[in-house]
Amino acid sequence: MDKSMREVMEFRFACKHFDTEKKIDVDVLHEILDLTRLSPSSYGVQPWKFIVVETEDLKKALAPACYNQPQITEACCVVVMCARTDLAGDNGAIHQHVLKSKEDFGNSDEKSAAFENMISTSLLSRSSQEIKAWSQKQVYLAGMSLMIIAAEKGVDSCPMEGFEPAKVSEVLGLSEDLVPSLIIPLGYRNMEQPKKTRREFADIIEERK
Ligand SMILES: Cc1cc2nc3c(=O)[nH]c(=O)nc-3n(C[C@H](O)[C@H](O)[C@H](O)COP(=O)(O)O)c2cc1C
Repeated sequence: MDKSMREVMEFRFACKHFDTEKKIDVDVLHEILDLTRLSPSSYGVQPWKFIVVETEDLKKALAPACYNQPQITEACCVVVMCARTDLAGDNGAIHQHVLKSKEDFGNSDEKSAAFENMISTSLLSRSSQEIKAWSQKQVYLAGMSLMIIAAEKGVDSCPMEGFEPAKVSEVLGLSEDLVPSLIIPLGYRNMEQPKKTRREFADIIEERK
């Protein structure tokens, strides 16, 4: 039976221990990843790349870069969500996005050039630190999508920023313009789901009617 949104949100929790025997069906995994592509991003630029670590050897190699948190080796697979910092140039994320939009929407050369100019003017004037932070914010949105989509399919996850980005890059052999930003192991829980602690509605929601 389909889960309600409340059931999905209550099902999801930061899973610390995964069942090492239970594998995610490849079609289910691909559907989760494919739906994650539909996540929103500023200007639609999608400045991200998701590396899916599926082999035992690579998970073991990754673990020390993540302070040996057990999720990395116990999970069925580990999604390393990277922020792209190569926004400029012909192979950069902006131009790639403009070309794809042109193809998908049938935009004219003129409209595409204006679109690219608008995005570039806004983003490329920023410092490299600002660009990195901007890209990472987009990645976090995709990360939340990934976890919700997984939960809807009964797949557990854990959002993780407890890792050393430089070491993760080294293990995965990433280029400098890919910054590991959020790591999300996926699999099936091997633990009781703890009770949630959350601030009360009235504490954090201020309705201005
Ligand atoms: C950005 C982010 C980074 C996190 N990093 C880690 C981590 O490295 N290791 C871990 O076990 N949990 C990590 N967590 C899980 C949080 O502790 C957890 O989401 C929070 O306590 C709420 O619990 P719940 O997700 O089970 O509802 C992280 C959560 C977020 C959102």
